[in-house]
Amino acid sequence: MSINVPRGTKDLLPGETEKWQAVEQLIRDTCNLYQYKEIRTPIFEHTELFTRSVGDTTDIVQKEMYTFTDRGNRSLTLRPEGTASVVRSFVENKLFGLPNQPVKLYYMGPMFRYERQQAGRYRQFVQFGIEAIGSKDPAIDAEVMALAMSVYKKAGLKKIKLVINSLGDLESRQAHRDALISHFAPHIEGFCTDCQNRLQKNPLRILDCKVDRENPLMSTAPKLPDYLNEESAAYFEKVKHYLDILQVGYELDPNLVRGLDYYNHTAFEIMSEGEGFGAITTLAGGGRYNGLVEDLGGPEAPGIGFGMSIERLLLALEAEGLNFSILDALDIYVVAMGEAAKDKAVSFVSELRQHNISAEMDYLDRKVKAQMKSADRLNAKFSVVIGDNELETGKVSLKYLATGKQQEMTFEEIVQNYNEIVIKAMGELA
Ligand code: HAM
Repeated sequence: MSINVPRGTKDLLPGETEKWQAVEQLIRDTCNLYQYKEIRTPIFEHTELFTRSVGDTTDIVQKEMYTFTDRGNRSLTLRPEGTASVVRSFVENKLFGLPNQPVKLYYMGPMFRYERQQAGRYRQFVQFGIEAIGSKDPAIDAEVMALAMSVYKKAGLKKIKLVINSLGDLESRQAHRDALISHFAPHIEGFCTDCQNRLQKNPLRILDCKVDRENPLMSTAPKLPDYLNEESAAYFEKVKHYLDILQVGYELDPNLVRGLDYYNHTAFEIMSEGEGFGAITTLAGGGRYNGLVEDLGGPEAPGIGFGMSIERLLLALEAEGLNFSILDALDIYVVAMGEAAKDKAVSFVSELRQHNISAEMDYLDRKVKAQMKSADRLNAKFSVVIGDNELETGKVSLKYLATGKQQEMTFEEIVQNYNEIVIKAMGELA
């Protein structure tokens, strides 16, 4: 009997992994531009970390966590998201004491949620996220959203939109909460049992319910923006002001409530509008979480961030018919004709690699034609053919495969001048 990967997980094979590396590189470069530094936290944490931060009435905590008891009888959970771990680490390592505030962090790694598998929804997925902790300047809210949009734009996506809302501060949320209870209470028997339980504990979560999504009471429910107090409304105006300065376009959605409990003030999602993207159109989600650091035992340190999965980014690229440029394309494929030529090919390939020029050759005794086909399949920039003649003269024809144009030169010249050769060949193509 053969064993397959667990449901909701997948292998990434060569061909796919190059795209991942390219996206990961783009992300790291972007974070560097904005001065977010990488943090790596454990894959599992104490379960309590997530029940206290994400919230014990959320779908994530109630239905989706991979929780287990270890041999020391501790309840541990595979992380379903990154914010809780980053905030725990911020408190535990006293990063609030660092001279540079806010502390700007990013992370990229596997997260786990027991969800129903469909395109764009997996049980193990890789989330890239950033967190800026220690500032309540609305300019940082705008920066965080701009960074997320910039990753998608640099990847080439065009059909995306940023959707924003404000959840307000504690007082605004309390007023909205009371209004929600009055709205739903008389009709709550018509809702699922989860929603019935949520009514008193956390009525905001009802708006987020996947079961009762179509219930007409959902669209008539009290909207958050109508309950913002003056301070919260002024804060939201400032956030929009900075987005305008950054020339980041957005849509307002008064119904946008996020599926995690720690949010207040700014909440946002980035959606794909590409056709063929499937049912799930949210590419990224985030928001402000003032108070979370204190809830987890730290000092006052307001924060904001977002998370996006690499899987959904790649799906969105596919939906827009874009092929992410592959970073580690092959430079030179070396074709050998005969035994003596093969010896030269082995040493030349090795020399190229020592000079940081990627190189490949045949190891299956294939005919020249088949070797040339390999060069094409591997997407090589150049090929050279080594035969008796080349061994004698010490010169080979370096062929630029995009145009078929050839140039005669010595092995040494290829190694020494490779960068200029590439620039010239690409220039002619343009
Ligand atoms: P979230 O909305 O739960 O927020 O997830 C953020 C992103 O993670 C989603 O928009 C999606 O790209 C990806 N994602 C979530 N679940 C799955 C899944 N099952 N399969 C594939 N991708 C998935 C958070 O996780 C917050 N921690 C974001 C944040 C950071 N807020 C502030 N800082």
